[in-house]
Amino acid sequence: MHSNPIGIFDSGVGGTSIWKEIHKLLPLENTIYLADSANAPYGDKSAEDILQLSIKNTELLLQYNCKLIVVACNTATTNAIEYLRATYKNVSFIGIEPAIKPAVLQSNSKTVGVLATKGTLSSSLFHSTVKNHAEGIKIIEREGVGLVPLIEAGKASSKEIKELLVSLLTPMLKQNIDYLVLGCTHYPYLIPVLKELLPAHINIIDSGEAVAKQTKAVLVKDVILSTKNLKPTHQFYTNADVVILESFLKDVDGKLYVNYLDF
Ligand code: SIN
Repeated sequence: MHSNPIGIFDSGVGGTSIWKEIHKLLPLENTIYLADSANAPYGDKSAEDILQLSIKNTELLLQYNCKLIVVACNTATTNAIEYLRATYKNVSFIGIEPAIKPAVLQSNSKTVGVLATKGTLSSSLFHSTVKNHAEGIKIIEREGVGLVPLIEAGKASSKEIKELLVSLLTPMLKQNIDYLVLGCTHYPYLIPVLKELLPAHINIIDSGEAVAKQTKAVLVKDVILSTKNLKPTHQFYTNADVVILESFLKDVDGKLYVNYLDF
């Protein structure tokens, strides 16, 4: 069991930002990543469609005997994780929630911006997080309409995406946010552009590191942490363009297997 892979899925390439944090913290683990790019974006889909896609991805990862599954997609987490946990009881699931709690605790202006998909912002999990953890804080929500398709197309630093970000973020800046929460695992790939566009005092925060720590904590608790695997393997599958997925992994050292799979 210890050497079984950690399974990770996302609506596409964005969850590789989470995979990188997990790999950094847990370098001895075997991993399998599913990029469901043929169905991206999930954020505009109905809750039922998001659930069905999450079930499809989970069942495939279970066929690969994954010992733990990371739902590396905020939209899938907020819409499907409760069902997945209740249905597949023999495996632990780690989900991604927007990092509202740390932003709220540290905000001086008491105003926090959250950029996420419609599927995440409209979910009951998101509403309860805000209700329970953001008392006395103004949360400015914004749907990142159009961002995921551009990132999936490999245009994360294009002029088009910069213009889109300016229009999405200007209303938040006018309301004096000092923290911007990235509530979608695709958005960490926008950080270089966001740093160009935003005033220096705005803190950008995402969930990657916290998710990696939580993954490790659950592996330790379940006594399935890999400690001796000196040659871990990393398999990436996409049902769309292999070259685009590879381009999101070019900064990773070591051998990765990136292939097309019809799923
Ligand atoms: C999407 O597919 O729309 C975005 C995925 C996410 O919410 O992380």
